[in-house]
Amino acid sequence: MDKAINFISSLMIAVSNCSLYSKEHESFDDLARKVYAMLMESMADRFEIMMLLNDLVVNNTPLRKGGLHRTRLLKRFTRKGIARVEISAGVSLAEIKQFIVDLSASRKGLRTYPHIKTGSVNISDGMGVIDTSLDTFSPDDETGKLKESFDAVTFQKKLQMVALHEVVVRFIAAFKGENNVLKFLCPVKDYSEYTYIHAANVAVLSMFQAKTLGIDDELLHDIGIAALLHDTGKLFISKDILEKKGKLDDNEFNEMKNHPVLGARYLAKMDDITRLAPLAAFEHHMQYDGSGYPVLNFQRKKQHFCSQIVAIADFFDALRSRRPYRESWEVEKIFALMVKNSGTAFNPLLLDHFIKSIRATLSLPEETQEVRG
Ligand SMILES: [Fe+2]
Ligand SMILES: [Fe+2]
Repeated sequence: MDKAINFISSLMIAVSNCSLYSKEHESFDDLARKVYAMLMESMADRFEIMMLLNDLVVNNTPLRKGGLHRTRLLKRFTRKGIARVEISAGVSLAEIKQFIVDLSASRKGLRTYPHIKTGSVNISDGMGVIDTSLDTFSPDDETGKLKESFDAVTFQKKLQMVALHEVVVRFIAAFKGENNVLKFLCPVKDYSEYTYIHAANVAVLSMFQAKTLGIDDELLHDIGIAALLHDTGKLFISKDILEKKGKLDDNEFNEMKNHPVLGARYLAKMDDITRLAPLAAFEHHMQYDGSGYPVLNFQRKKQHFCSQIVAIADFFDALRSRRPYRESWEVEKIFALMVKNSGTAFNPLLLDHFIKSIRATLSLPEETQEVRG
């Protein structure tokens, strides 16, 4: 097992070096050769690293040691949406070099190499490797993964992030081939599933805004994760309230209003998650002009721009979806209401951009009326 630890340490040193400098840096070749030599020493016909419930399992043996490098590899896997790497005999130095470069880059997704296979572990059974290729993308499948992850949440149990990172990576990749963002939004077929479907839709609409604002790479990914998790606090609100067929009374609404604090508190305890996640969970119902909830008894800063993006996506999806107590709204009717609240509930510049971008993707005519600031 010491050989495996040495391989992982040398791998993470090479990855860090490549992140800091580049593969052109003079030290990269030496470090990559060292990784390759360590691998050759420790592998027979194959070498497998698997991430299971925040533990690393190397060649079927849990890796207890490895300190900082082990932790860094876990974080890197989580961020890339990888939960398993299998290297088979015959792997070349060139493949290892490319693997190090890809692992160090934040922008690149998963790639297949002749002798290195990467995949993600299906959270439901913990062991089965699922296909991460993008040809099978379907919004329905993505919400299914969210449901599995969210269903496992309790205050004591941490959310498994691998599936969520994978959903975000796949959404980002799918955006590239499709202009009409609304095609990625799922209809709510069953009200009990609203939470998952709404989470996926808000992530799509938030990443769409961010992408069309020119945001890319790690920040785009983090906004996707924060948007997916904005309503995590609702997992701790009673089902009777969440699925009530009819408007909430005052007491019920007050309980519902706890979800930003409950979500932020839960997410703030997780150390392998973007800080934007607890922030957006806490702030998504705080409005642009400082009204909204939670009400704070101290002077607060303006909503973070990520929370402002999520708030626009949240409002749009909430009205677009059919709910137990009302039908869905037409896009133009939602826009009209949002414009009315521009500058109060919503950041006027972001809202203007959102409406123009959605109109452009739907080929709707531009309204002549300007969004009120
Ligand atoms: Fe919410
Ligand atoms: Fe929401």
